[in-house]
Amino acid sequence: TSSPHYDFVIVGGGTSGLVVANRLSELHNVTVAVIEAGESVLNNFNVTNVMGYSTAFGTQVDWAYQTENQTYADGLQQTVRAGKALGGTSTINGNSYTRAEDLQIDTWEVVGNKGWNWKNLLTYYKKSEGFEVPTEDQIAHGANYNASYHGLDGPLKVGWPYSMTNSSVFHALKDTMEKMGMNYNPESEGGKMVGFTVHPDTVDREKNVREDAARAYYWPYETRSNLKIISNTRGNKIIWANSTAGGDAVAAGVEVTTEYGTEIIYVDREVILSAGALRSPALLELSGVGNPALLGQHGIPVKVNLTTVGENLQDQTNNALSWAGVDTVTGLATFSALPSVNQLYGDKADALAASVKSQLASYARTVAQASNGVLKEANLLEAFNLQHDMIFKSQVPYTEIVFSPLGQSFAVEYWPLLPFSRGHVHIRSANASDLPAINPNYFMFAQDAEAQVTVAKYIRKSMATAPVSGLIREEQSPGLEVLPTDASRETWDKWVKAHYRTNYHPVGTLSMLPREKGGVVSPELKVYGTKNVRVVDASVLPFQLCGHLVSTLYAVAEKASDIIKESY
Ligand code: FDA
Repeated sequence: TSSPHYDFVIVGGGTSGLVVANRLSELHNVTVAVIEAGESVLNNFNVTNVMGYSTAFGTQVDWAYQTENQTYADGLQQTVRAGKALGGTSTINGNSYTRAEDLQIDTWEVVGNKGWNWKNLLTYYKKSEGFEVPTEDQIAHGANYNASYHGLDGPLKVGWPYSMTNSSVFHALKDTMEKMGMNYNPESEGGKMVGFTVHPDTVDREKNVREDAARAYYWPYETRSNLKIISNTRGNKIIWANSTAGGDAVAAGVEVTTEYGTEIIYVDREVILSAGALRSPALLELSGVGNPALLGQHGIPVKVNLTTVGENLQDQTNNALSWAGVDTVTGLATFSALPSVNQLYGDKADALAASVKSQLASYARTVAQASNGVLKEANLLEAFNLQHDMIFKSQVPYTEIVFSPLGQSFAVEYWPLLPFSRGHVHIRSANASDLPAINPNYFMFAQDAEAQVTVAKYIRKSMATAPVSGLIREEQSPGLEVLPTDASRETWDKWVKAHYRTNYHPVGTLSMLPREKGGVVSPELKVYGTKNVRVVDASVLPFQLCGHLVSTLYAVAEKASDIIKESY
């Protein structure tokens, strides 16, 4: 029998990978294979149930990666969840659909990625979206939209579950947040996110099930004979051709391990890595693309010297408070407040801007040192200055606060959106079955921890403001015995670090940036030094976003698919 071969081999059938698989297999004359470590979850209730957030955690569909001990967070580890299934992390996530601040996407172009800006990406957000226009009743409960920002014909169903109309707290929260100085934002998907909003979800409203990447981009197309899903199969590494193309390494295939053993799947055109921000870097390193010092430690021959593979890891940190509720609230409705730094810090914002500005050079030095000099201070400083401008000059949202009243409990979780901390992810060994070593360096900088405290205090103040104050009883967690109103900064800091979790938004580990700025992929998402290897997943986002990630990842993968198609 002849060896299997395809025009395109995609490693990782997750959120991004299935978009690319779908769009490339629209071309009848090409063949596409997707290698996915997990399997179908079409009938897994922990996945499909729109009220089932977190029920899939710790099951066989969760990679449940463990971080290294976190030096700046009392040495504790974190569990970083990620989906191991056809559909990837979109099968276990919180279903929130929020995009980004327009300026943040424009920044990608500012730093050297031609063609990557909000205006252009908006066409791809819309291309991916099958917007479910809210009913009158849903609008009365906080759903809203401006038609010019939505696509009606894309594969991904986006809208509000009908059950949101059981909720009675929208008006109370809206009034309270207005008193806190925050306006209701009827449309947060148009690039302006500051305000109080009831954003849509990735949900199939009619079937009342989660809309994940497989449901949107694979199952309706499963009969395509040129699209092959190879599930329960791990991609180990890229196999290279003996000859190069003008000095660039040429991928000939992918070594995979199934339950029956290890084999090679050959590729005629391209390998596309879509294994997620915590795994695509490992696939490159196992293939000999990375930092020669690290590859040498593991006895892996260097194919491409690209020192920044796995660096620039940016994630967020999440804490929660909760109150006993007075009203029993049913249905599924989540409400988000996205205040700017001025709304949070009030008249202290200017002093904070100056203080953070004066520390940016030292932030850059610390991150560069933590990368063993692989990242350059000047590049980091450029990125941090842009981030500072976004926060303090452009006033993008500084934190997201999510109110989840349900039954007798009123939970409020939050995460500062743009921490300065950066870490890395690298292989532990040359064995592809070993999970990578992940070090996000949470709370590397005092301001990242300080923000975590300030937002918690802001939430307490909001919850004590009428009319919401009338809907709740005592604070249950952490509670005033644990954290009295006048608790010291130290006590707060301890609470934050003992109870935070990752916000599960790792990005940046194979950043799309010019090579001289520490980038790993070009604006065409091609890995520098290779002829036919691209990356399409959260790894390529050069900077953290104010939105949740999937909407942007679907858009990026749609654009990537066009780029790949145009190149042939
Ligand atoms: P993704 O993880 O989707 O895909 C990678 C795929 O590659 C997986 O299917 C994996 O099994 C596979 N794979 C990995 N290694 C492999 C190998 N060696 N061989 C073969 N296959 C391999 N975002 C949002 O927008 N709204 C939200 O509400 C939330 N909430 C949320 C909650 C939780 C708990 C998490 C963990 C994450 C979120 N997110 C979120 C984030 C969001 O879901 C996430 O960023 C994207 O789904 C990531 O998409 P990717 O395509 O990058 O990787």
